Amino acid sequence: MYRISELGEIVRLSRSALLYYEKLGLIKGQRQRNGYRVYSDEDAQRICLIQNLQAGGLSLQECKAFVDKKLDPCVLEKRYQRLSDDIEQKQQAKSLLAALLGKSSSKSWHQSLMRIAPDAHLKWLQTQGYSEKEALRLKWLSKDMNAHEQYMQDFFEVFDGLERWGPGTDEDTLHALKMLPSKPHNLLEIGCGKGAATLVLAKAIDAQITAIDNEPSALDRLTEQLSVNGLKDQVSLLNMSMTDIALPDESFDAIWCETSIYVMGVEKALASWKRLLKPGGFMVFNDLVWLADKRSEAATEFWTTEYPDMQTIDTRKSQIEKAGYELIDTFTLDDKGWRNYYESLEQRLAELMPERPKSEAFTDIAAEIAIYKNYLAEFGYQFFIVKKAK
Ligand SMILES: C[S@@+](CC[C@H](N)C(=O)[O-])C[C@H]1O[C@@H](n2cnc3c(N)ncnc32)[C@H](O)[C@@H]1O
Repeated sequence: MYRISELGEIVRLSRSALLYYEKLGLIKGQRQRNGYRVYSDEDAQRICLIQNLQAGGLSLQECKAFVDKKLDPCVLEKRYQRLSDDIEQKQQAKSLLAALLGKSSSKSWHQSLMRIAPDAHLKWLQTQGYSEKEALRLKWLSKDMNAHEQYMQDFFEVFDGLERWGPGTDEDTLHALKMLPSKPHNLLEIGCGKGAATLVLAKAIDAQITAIDNEPSALDRLTEQLSVNGLKDQVSLLNMSMTDIALPDESFDAIWCETSIYVMGVEKALASWKRLLKPGGFMVFNDLVWLADKRSEAATEFWTTEYPDMQTIDTRKSQIEKAGYELIDTFTLDDKGWRNYYESLEQRLAELMPERPKSEAFTDIAAEIAIYKNYLAEFGYQFFIVKKAK
């Protein structure tokens, strides 16, 4: 038998807490002849049980109901659920700290933050010393700060060997151009890369073209190509970020953006690039969209991570309208455009993979190609030809 002070030491509770337990009927002291109350092992064990239940989120009253076999199982179920959520949250917080300390990969944290708070994520990366360009790259390509440099290097080695950095063909560019009600005289191309569309446009129309990208090596390559094709005077190249285009308002009849708008996000791009268009000016862009209502688990999981803002054609249409544009036409890129892209990508991987079979970037690119090959009917690249309405 224990006196109250001894029991308090065993169960690490104060005298007043024990008296409160007694008042609730959770323990029952026996008064001795000398007036002291003493408690049994059974009391001590009951308190241990209650402390465990409390750690699971039960209130003292609920613990009492449990001990008296009067607790509604629904209450236990609710507490169980809440505890599971708390543990999950704590696990995530732990993973974040581990990732920030370089003890583990930060990939999953980046991926989930990108989904729930994309702008805050980008800003946070910039506060960590990444330039906007690096932060956008990190956001879209690696998502793992600790493996970033090697990842970027490998990734770039693959793409450096390719002329086209996204799906499509010259015919697709020309097809979209034909859909414009009038030919532009001043055109701004955003995210031109090495000029897959730039060269086609410059040859097809008698327009002054300004093409921007933030990758100097791509702009260098395009400069060479423009010289070879005698198009240097028609196209001005600018190393500039699409997120902050320092060009005057209403300076273009048309904006062209092939396979690049995702970097900024469609809604954001529609809103912030609009000022660059003359009244009634056109914008042509293409974007990865869901085509099928029924989607495989593999494709859904892949794109939810890789392009969380992927939408259906109808959602994009209503976003276009909401942003103050009128949809003129739209079409889906066919298989040829995809093969044109992923077959050269695959060939490049086959050349590089044997040198670094464990490269994360190579593995990711291979996984992406597998998704294209197996599930292409479920998603696709959709061209949108729109007009600035107001
Ligand atoms: C998928 S590639 C498409 C390139 C080209 N349109 C093509 O089809 O080959 C995306 C392009 O966007 C460029 N880019 C990425 N972030 C950018 C940014 N913040 N500002 C300007 N260009 C950017 C990349 O350098 C790359 O050239």
